[in-house]
Amino acid sequence: MDRIRIRGGNRLAGEIPISGAKNAGLPLMAASLLSEEPLSLGNLPHLADISTLASLLGVLGVELAMDGDAPNGGHAGRVLTLHARKIASTTAPYDLVRRMRASILVLGGLVARVGEAKVSLPGGCAIGNRPVDLHLKGLEQLGAEIDVRGGYIEARAPKGLTGGHVVFPFVSVGATENLMIAASLARGETVLANAAREPEVIDLGHCLNAMGAKISGLGTDTITIEGVPGLHGARHQVVPDRIETGTYALAAAITGGDVMLLGANPAHNEALFEKLKESGVEVSVDGRGVRIAPGSGRPEGVDVMTEPYPGFPTDLQAQFMALMAAASGAAMITETIFENRFMHVSELARMGANVTVHGASAMVRGAKTLAGAEVMATDLRASVSLVLAGLAAQGETIVNRVYHLDRGYEKLEEKLAACGADIQRLRD
Ligand code: UD1
Repeated sequence: MDRIRIRGGNRLAGEIPISGAKNAGLPLMAASLLSEEPLSLGNLPHLADISTLASLLGVLGVELAMDGDAPNGGHAGRVLTLHARKIASTTAPYDLVRRMRASILVLGGLVARVGEAKVSLPGGCAIGNRPVDLHLKGLEQLGAEIDVRGGYIEARAPKGLTGGHVVFPFVSVGATENLMIAASLARGETVLANAAREPEVIDLGHCLNAMGAKISGLGTDTITIEGVPGLHGARHQVVPDRIETGTYALAAAITGGDVMLLGANPAHNEALFEKLKESGVEVSVDGRGVRIAPGSGRPEGVDVMTEPYPGFPTDLQAQFMALMAAASGAAMITETIFENRFMHVSELARMGANVTVHGASAMVRGAKTLAGAEVMATDLRASVSLVLAGLAAQGETIVNRVYHLDRGYEKLEEKLAACGADIQRLRD
């Protein structure tokens, strides 16, 4: 298995181009199931999770074609065209679903288009027990009959879905997206109350509307979908990845670096940028993106609590903890979205971080220096937090289980090395 080796201590300086958002790309790809005409997605990142969903959609009968690599050899110009001319199978097999929880996003599209779906239950996940009950209850409210048998969710709506009023007991990004996709082809009006407001949800809504859906209230907690009998093809550009943006902003901050995040949308990271400024890091915006530059001293400890958007994202919690582990003073980091999302703590501790966890909160006492070590992590964002710590640490850090990083970061080593990081992938 590949590993990443970092020799820490270099200040990052330069420019990092931000890729399209993985978490926007996945539901957008699932939306292709709704139409017999092609959906073309530009600015899709080149990532393992995107390939996993592409394989699953292929099994369901979607024809996929990729073209348009950017002239510099990057992927910024690539366009994936998904053509669900005919649904060949309504079964999403365990073997593909178990690799990525977001596979559940095909459920709504299949039931809405052909009236049936059989999707493997996603199963356990490293960051806590992540059920799909809100997805299932929501679809039932649109008239689907749901059974769970032999590890599979079986959903049926032979006469089609009908609009309904769905009140989510708490905010779920994936359930909001699945229900938006399903309700687009339902008969009548659907109202989703306490809906997610994440930029990726808005991006999906814009794309569905470009395909002929009638969705309003995007970016608010009440989304209304007026069902239509059919959707047509469209072309859509995926929004920039705000989690990748935040990760590199924190990479710059932890090394005292000066980095321009090209193409980043500053409006999507306000919660993080406020915290960075509070900590003493300089954040400025111009037409090209967001610049992160050092303040007068080491970043200072600031408290953070994860919340649904526009609050501080849970997907940046581990990376922010890495920064706080090297900051001056203490910080309280509270995780409210997922249970058990502190698995990076014990690995950061191996690098000299001083962190005490009490339930959903972690008290981080900044250390003057972190020290390189051999580490591994169990999920995507936890892994990248170790990379950040390694960039700031003295000596050599080896990060194992790089496949986690490949799920969500396009050209991680290249982007960091281009800004002066001493980072290499060791291939086995
Ligand atoms: C999405 C993101 C993920 C991010 C998360 C929260 C994608 C592909 N993934 O995941 O990176 O960390 O949002 O911002 O976009 N829950 C239930 N029942 C459900 C659904 C969710 O109890 O049916 C719980 C989850 O366990 C979690 C909380 O709701 O505690 C929020 O999860 P949700 O917003 O649904 O996350 P995902 O859409 O899976």
